[in-house]
Amino acid sequence: MKVLLSDAVKDYDTCRVLDIGSLEFTKGIYAILGSNGSGKSTLMSCMAGLECLSEGSILYDGRKLDANLRNSISILVQKPYLFNKTSYENIVSGLKYKRTPKEELQKRFDKYKSYFEVDDLLNKKSSWLSGGERAKIALLRTAVLETELTMLDEPTAAMDIESSMRAENLIRQMAENNRTVILITHDVHQAKRIADQVIFMDKGKIIEMGKAENVLNNPANKLVRQILNI
Ligand SMILES: Nc1ncnc2c1ncn2[C@@H]1O[C@H](COP(=O)(O)OP(=O)(O)OP(=O)(O)O)[C@@H](O)[C@H]1O
Ligand SMILES: [Mg+2]
Repeated sequence: MKVLLSDAVKDYDTCRVLDIGSLEFTKGIYAILGSNGSGKSTLMSCMAGLECLSEGSILYDGRKLDANLRNSISILVQKPYLFNKTSYENIVSGLKYKRTPKEELQKRFDKYKSYFEVDDLLNKKSSWLSGGERAKIALLRTAVLETELTMLDEPTAAMDIESSMRAENLIRQMAENNRTVILITHDVHQAKRIADQVIFMDKGKIIEMGKAENVLNNPANKLVRQILNI
């Protein structure tokens, strides 16, 4: 999905937390990096329609966000909420909401659950899960939706190393068939492993963006060079 932001501004009271002249996403995996409070989650919330921009516009394949388009977009927020139900029920909750036929629902569930070893968790209530286990269930709940545009806000922050690797395989799968994944991460190595494009943010602005290889190995911006220790 082609997403185009133009003169996108978000203010909270007198504080400008997002100020982006122009930004375009097409297919593949985009990693967004940047320090705490730089506006990454705000950008994602606005793109998912959870928050409104104060100024500017976001177009999805040339259109404004409407009910139809919302079906092609999913977001895993930074602190995902799980329903007080079993892990299985949580994973398929979005599909049930979309009234997905039973057979298709089962097919999707079977396809994605194998990315993590979660068999022991499926009948457990979400309130009993550990932080990393919750993160896996939340990521699976997003993955089964198979949306054209998937946004993930630090999906592996609570996961152990092996689980993060499994999550990265799943994220690669989410971008197959010319789909788009936008991934917020603090892990430069993760961005190196899976991103096609990398965006660095600071104080609400894009300070560097381009092909992952170029941005991560030879950034022009001084602050980015400092962060990457180059
Ligand atoms: N509802 C709100 N009211 C006021 N300020 C807000 C609100 N939501 C976010 N902010 C501020 O906007 C700025 C950007 O926040 P945001 O959550 O987008 O940062 P982030 O880049 O995702 O940071 P982190 O890496 O810590 O997740 C922060 O300074 C934050 O305090
Ligand atoms: Mg954030």
